[in-house]
Amino acid sequence: MSKTLVTYVSLTGNTKSIAEAIYAAVEGEKSIKSIEDILDEDLIEFSLIFIGFPVHSHSISFKTEALIKRLPPKKKIALFSTHGSLAGGHLAREALEYAAVIGSHTQILGTFSTRGKVSMNAMDVLSRSPEHKAWAEMAVSARSHPDDNDLVDAKSFAKWVQTLFAQK
Ligand SMILES: Cc1cc2nc3c(=O)[nH]c(=O)nc-3n(C[C@H](O)[C@H](O)[C@H](O)COP(=O)(O)O)c2cc1C
Repeated sequence: MSKTLVTYVSLTGNTKSIAEAIYAAVEGEKSIKSIEDILDEDLIEFSLIFIGFPVHSHSISFKTEALIKRLPPKKKIALFSTHGSLAGGHLAREALEYAAVIGSHTQILGTFSTRGKVSMNAMDVLSRSPEHKAWAEMAVSARSHPDDNDLVDAKSFAKWVQTLFAQK
């Protein structure tokens, strides 16, 4: 029996809300858990895994990286992220691209990214550091995200991935 897992890292809830939208759109047997809660699980029962993370310092968290690296070869996965920088730009893509490289032993059926707000306090601190300047200035306009349209897009992504999964 094919079972789908949606797993995510989320510090302030943005990625979690995208994960929940994806989970809502998944058909059949399914489970949703934070990455912290599956660190010791073998994940054999899941034939498709959606993995989500917030972009932090242009990259992915250690726990997300560890999960992707330990997946068995050819495991079918889909990656999603939230980020403060503008949609579609290279800053939004680079963490997903990195995740795809370290997951190149798996079968990646799709990727999805959308914007996520940063609290004003965090922005104030982050935008002062040269490391964060490039994305933090853009993140001001992410303050309403993820919004209802982003959740609709996330659901379409989940449906599309399931269509691909059914074909392979
Ligand atoms: C410490 C920190 C570093 C971040 N680094 C980046 C970054 O490099 N690029 C970017 O686009 N957004 C960056 N962000 C913004 C987050 O990716 C964005 O707010 C995301 O939606 C947070 O997701 P969460 O609520 O699931 O934790 C950063 C946020 C924080 C707090």
